[in-house]
Amino acid sequence: MKTMALPDSFLQDLHSRNPATDVISSYVNLKRAGRNMVGLCPFHNEKTPSFTVYGSTDSFYCFGCGAGGDVITFIRKIENLDYMEAVKFLAQRSGLQMPEDGYDDSLSRLRTRIFEANRAAAKFFHKFLYTPEGSVGLEYLRSRGLSEASIKHFGLGFAPKNTYALNKYLIECGFTEFELIQANLAFKSNRTNRLVDRFIDRVIYPMIDLRGNVVAFAGRTLNKDEKAKYINTSDTPVFKKSNNLFALNYAKNTKEKQIILVEGYMDVISLHQVGIENTVATMGTALTREHALILGKYADEIILCFDSDSAGQKATSRAIEILRDANIPIRIIRVPGNKDPDEFLNADKQNGASRFRLLIENSGNDIEYRLGLLRNGVDLSVASQKVAFLKEAAKMISNINNAVEVDVYVSKLCKELDVEKTAMVHLINQHRKKYYREEKKKFSQKIQSSDTRPDVVNPDRSRQLKAAKAEEALICFLFNHPDELKKICEKISPDDFITDFNRKVFLCVSERIKNGSGTSLFDISNEFSVEENSRISFIVNKNCGDLQYAFDCINVILSEKNKQQLKSESNPNDDDLLKYIDSIKKGKK
Ligand code: UTP
Ligand code: MN
Repeated sequence: MKTMALPDSFLQDLHSRNPATDVISSYVNLKRAGRNMVGLCPFHNEKTPSFTVYGSTDSFYCFGCGAGGDVITFIRKIENLDYMEAVKFLAQRSGLQMPEDGYDDSLSRLRTRIFEANRAAAKFFHKFLYTPEGSVGLEYLRSRGLSEASIKHFGLGFAPKNTYALNKYLIECGFTEFELIQANLAFKSNRTNRLVDRFIDRVIYPMIDLRGNVVAFAGRTLNKDEKAKYINTSDTPVFKKSNNLFALNYAKNTKEKQIILVEGYMDVISLHQVGIENTVATMGTALTREHALILGKYADEIILCFDSDSAGQKATSRAIEILRDANIPIRIIRVPGNKDPDEFLNADKQNGASRFRLLIENSGNDIEYRLGLLRNGVDLSVASQKVAFLKEAAKMISNINNAVEVDVYVSKLCKELDVEKTAMVHLINQHRKKYYREEKKKFSQKIQSSDTRPDVVNPDRSRQLKAAKAEEALICFLFNHPDELKKICEKISPDDFITDFNRKVFLCVSERIKNGSGTSLFDISNEFSVEENSRISFIVNKNCGDLQYAFDCINVILSEKNKQQLKSESNPNDDDLLKYIDSIKKGKK
């Protein structure tokens, strides 16, 4: 795992500039809880926070999914990077220069090449728009009402009909086949074994990330018989569709505190063209938790403006759930006449923009939207329908955590429908109780099932639970009291450890203490995988006992080991017996 050695001084500098709480709070909304900070885990879906950031060990651990580790491990996991990439990422974030050489940066070199290839491709597509062959694309974009300025602003283009045009050009520019395949700009044809372009005969929409790099493309066919209207770049070393948003590079610079989320690329471009530039879209996927975290960084409120067909309504409901979970206030626009925003703007060239702004101003929040959906088609003059509606409404309102908000909606509904407020409140409380019962059940089920999951990090642990827990407590002690190493080593050696993983951790930490190297989670991060770092975080963030307790743990480990030996050797020879007696004496000292 140790592929290189970064200078200690550099790592120390990196560590002090990137405290875990600091870095993590730009991804997770953290709240103080005693000495620690807690928030909703970014690595699994949860409604109550089980993700903790520990100031004392400068690390994190999630009791829900078991993710944990130091700040580098956090970046490895959340940005999907390897150790070296994560170090580089943190260095860049904190304005620190990477040491000149002595480290393996092949992945970051590949990423740089992909950025360059994408940029060259974007220029190629854009230029092609203004050639005779590309003019169909240009005419199409004009026919959809786009100005020259918009076409330039978004760097739109056209991909030639010729299956090899782009890759031939890029190879001539010096890019390798490998780089083009990694960039998802081309692929190897099984039939001909030739490199074939990914985007052929399509209008091209490049995707620019927040650092100004071209990271992906979308291509729209002009052929009505084509199956896929749009195709998008798949995930590559520089692009994950689950955490990129089209036009966020522009939207983040506007003064608005809100971001409008629409479904399509054309919706984004048309809205930007009329000056509503705080608009973004996902890239051919539904909204994810990662998207929500990013949006939460740039906006105080998200305005959802999806198509009003049934697919759009489903997408709206899912997006509401995800944004609610991320604690981001939501409003919902319903564009009249079954139109998408682009069609709405183009239907009324004169007043489209101001009419759309009116829709924004009059948009309701998600509760109002959902109550509206519930109320659709209900005849309130029929008693049974009215009751059914109120029951559903109570269920929905019971999910709101804010007491004031609850009161506002209850009062409003009760007044409108002429029912007693206490009756409604009673219904809501019933749902609450049921919800908590279910959550509690789910939680205990989760704990039980996690016990039966195979333990990949420390497979011996479940069979040797008593010893493993003692080993872990000892490791925790050593982390907190490195100066007591000598006293510990007098009583136990790594060979006495029963579980392999804990032995490895103990060995690593004790060697580092002897060498005078740092032993924080940050310091040892590179010696372990992401999963192993998670486990170590679990181990060291427990309450640590005193020296006497550490000795007790040693006794447990040694006696468990002896039990095991006795079991495996029903007929021990004298030598082993002596060793056994010796070790018991040692343990009881
Ligand atoms: P729509 O089908 O609503 O298209 O898809 P649109 O945005 O109105 O496009 P135009 O106006 O006909 O040009 C909405 C979004 O869903 C994704 C794209 O991101 C698109 O913008 N999509 C759609 C795909 O990724 N692939 C498809 O085949 C269709
Ligand atoms: Mn459209």
